[in-house]
Amino acid sequence: MRRVTVNCSSNYDVVIGKGILDETGRLTKQVCPKAQKVLIVSESNVAPLYMDRVKSSLTGEGFAVFEYVFEAGEQSKNIASISGMWGVMASNGFTRTDIVLALGGGVTGDMAGFAAATFLRGIKVIQVPTSLLAMVDACIGGKTGIDLPQGKNQVGAFHQPSIVIEDTSCLDTLPDSVFTEGMGEVLKYAYIMDTELYEILSGAEDKADIRKNLDLIEDIIARCAYDKAYVIGEDENDNGLRQTLNFGHTVGHVIERDSNFTLAHGVCVAKGMGIIIRASVLSGKLDKDKADKMISLIEAYGLPSEDDITPEEAREGVLNDKKKRGDTISVILVTDIGRSEICKMTADEFLQFLKRK
Ligand SMILES: NC(=O)c1ccc[n+]([C@@H]2O[C@H](COP(=O)([O-])OP(=O)(O)OC[C@H]3O[C@@H](n4cnc5c(N)ncnc54)[C@H](O)[C@@H]3O)[C@@H](O)[C@H]2O)c1
Ligand SMILES: [Zn+2]
Repeated sequence: MRRVTVNCSSNYDVVIGKGILDETGRLTKQVCPKAQKVLIVSESNVAPLYMDRVKSSLTGEGFAVFEYVFEAGEQSKNIASISGMWGVMASNGFTRTDIVLALGGGVTGDMAGFAAATFLRGIKVIQVPTSLLAMVDACIGGKTGIDLPQGKNQVGAFHQPSIVIEDTSCLDTLPDSVFTEGMGEVLKYAYIMDTELYEILSGAEDKADIRKNLDLIEDIIARCAYDKAYVIGEDENDNGLRQTLNFGHTVGHVIERDSNFTLAHGVCVAKGMGIIIRASVLSGKLDKDKADKMISLIEAYGLPSEDDITPEEAREGVLNDKKKRGDTISVILVTDIGRSEICKMTADEFLQFLKRK
């Protein structure tokens, strides 16, 4: 079992290992010794696979366990689901020392975290991510929330977990397309901050089938967890360094929204990274050879690096995006493999930047 510590307003560990789902009860007891009740939040794809193991591990340690299972998918990430979770906790006498445990992908983690952040003005949350994207990104760092009809993640709270338990063998059941999508976020860490991760990813044999090499995947997940922990430790509240995690996301979000969320998040991030990488070369910010390597690696992992969105559409979309602060947009540029910078641009400068391609 590996351990990565996140040092922020409340320090916690990310533990990573094969089969550690069965340790959930013991690990929960260690970090929340006063808790008596646990609400496991999960969804219709993940609960049939893993609920029983997590539940028996928790009951084995004497916890009273309750469940809230919602229909899998982003369309469930709304206030009705949260209200359902609040209802189960309220009817069963949950107190401030009790726990919400998220068992699932990023949708589950964001919602369970938000229900925990708001119930009784904040109870504990434990993250047990089961998708690659949630393991490397979503479940670390305390961003929680739900979508509104007007946009994704419009309501939320910062609420750090007490522990993050990552059982890498859960990835065995992840559909191929969902795994590939998670690789979009993995590549992001390599490009913005982690040359060693880049070396691992570019040196891996059989990239399209990397998921079969579980030991390597575990190394990669641990590196990403370490990278995210570092960023959160430096900038928990998203005022500086944390914004670099948005590399590829500014344009990616617009593509995602314009597809009516039919395109997966990680796929849109890959496209967004490709678009920014190409534009960076043309504006003299990034060496062409390096850009070519980054683009081919995105494609080697089965992800697209282009989209037919026009610079004008991207500018329009970004103006509605939350990354716009005041009159400027924070665009994350990679200036070398493993190095990034936050570049403030007006909407028109952003348009000109994209138009160079
Ligand atoms: N809080 C953050 O910092 C943060 C960061 C990035 C993304 N997010 C959020 O995360 C969400 C995307 O996360 P996601 O891609 O994990 O989505 P998801 O939770 O919808 O999971 C993707 C799909 O994989 C299935 N699944 C998950 N684990 C499985 C397993 N082990 N076996 C079989 N199927 C499994 C799910 O049922 C779903 O169909 C978005 O809502 C996004 O806004 C949050
Ligand atoms: Zn993302």
